[in-house]
Amino acid sequence: MNQQMTEYINLINTRLQKAVNDTPLNTNLEESMRYSLDAGGKRLRPLLVLLTLHTLNEDVYQGVETALALEMIHTYSLIHDDLPAMDNDDYRRGKLTNHKVYGEWKAILAGDALLTKAFEIISTDSKLAPETKVQLLARLSQASGHRGMVGGQVLDMQSENADIDLETLQQIHRAKTGALLKFAVMAAVDIAQPTTEIAQALEAYSEHLGLMFQIKDDLLDVYGDQDKLGKAVGSDVTNHKSTYVSLLGKEGAEEKLQYEADSAYRNLEILQPQYDTSHLNEIIQLFIQRDH
Ligand code: IPE
Ligand code: IPE
Ligand code: MG
Ligand code: MG
Ligand code: MG
Repeated sequence: MNQQMTEYINLINTRLQKAVNDTPLNTNLEESMRYSLDAGGKRLRPLLVLLTLHTLNEDVYQGVETALALEMIHTYSLIHDDLPAMDNDDYRRGKLTNHKVYGEWKAILAGDALLTKAFEIISTDSKLAPETKVQLLARLSQASGHRGMVGGQVLDMQSENADIDLETLQQIHRAKTGALLKFAVMAAVDIAQPTTEIAQALEAYSEHLGLMFQIKDDLLDVYGDQDKLGKAVGSDVTNHKSTYVSLLGKEGAEEKLQYEADSAYRNLEILQPQYDTSHLNEIIQLFIQRDH
């Protein structure tokens, strides 16, 4: 990660830590929300919002609240993903999973509260025009709901112990993981409003990134280092999940990862030389090389 990226991640971390305050209700719900938010995620989705704005020569501060909202939805999706009724995992981001610390019902409600907080944050953002906010809220609802992440999670769960083909797997990946990564890039597009050609190239870039991300996640689940990952390896095999590794093997999954990366690079070429895409190029590199 370059210095600019580290700076943006520090900004996101500082703002996230202050985003959920205790309420007079005096429950420890906020504590459990903060437990997962502060648990040391990589912040790749909010980073991508800011880097895309940076690339489009826009003031990145316009996207900070949206970036925080996206990280909240991502964090909620992980709290629920780890529940016994779903992937039943005990570790996340190097710490015990939310339900292991606070119990199942509170973990479910902490997830619900993070999800709704995301929409609160965008709708009360004073830096964006009302039309932009409505556009972002619609985009975020679609990306996180039944047509996006939640829909993908349902397909993922239904595909446990099932023989599915590559096209179906790709559909699952696009929805459960791709939709939120696509939102990261397209939220910046909504704010910056570049030409249609640039918007389409960035959309295609984000779709390839989304697939890359879950292919790598599937590889790391089998070949990764538990300590670096901060979550258990072997979860997919234990749960009889359909993954790129189970369908194509290690080499096949790695080839597919590289193929998606090449397509992502090609789409960034469309932005050049008008825009400096070095940060977005580096993200592709990071998605290939990451070990956690
Ligand atoms: C993990 O996402 C879940 C997937 C969508 C594959 P990340 O690998 O981005 O998790 P954190 O936010 O860094 O913990
Ligand atoms: C989860 O995919 C994607 C989400 C929408 C949360 P995984 O189940 O593979 O994520 P990990 O491996 O537990 O992080
Ligand atoms: Mg899962
Ligand atoms: Mg999981
Ligand atoms: Mg996984």
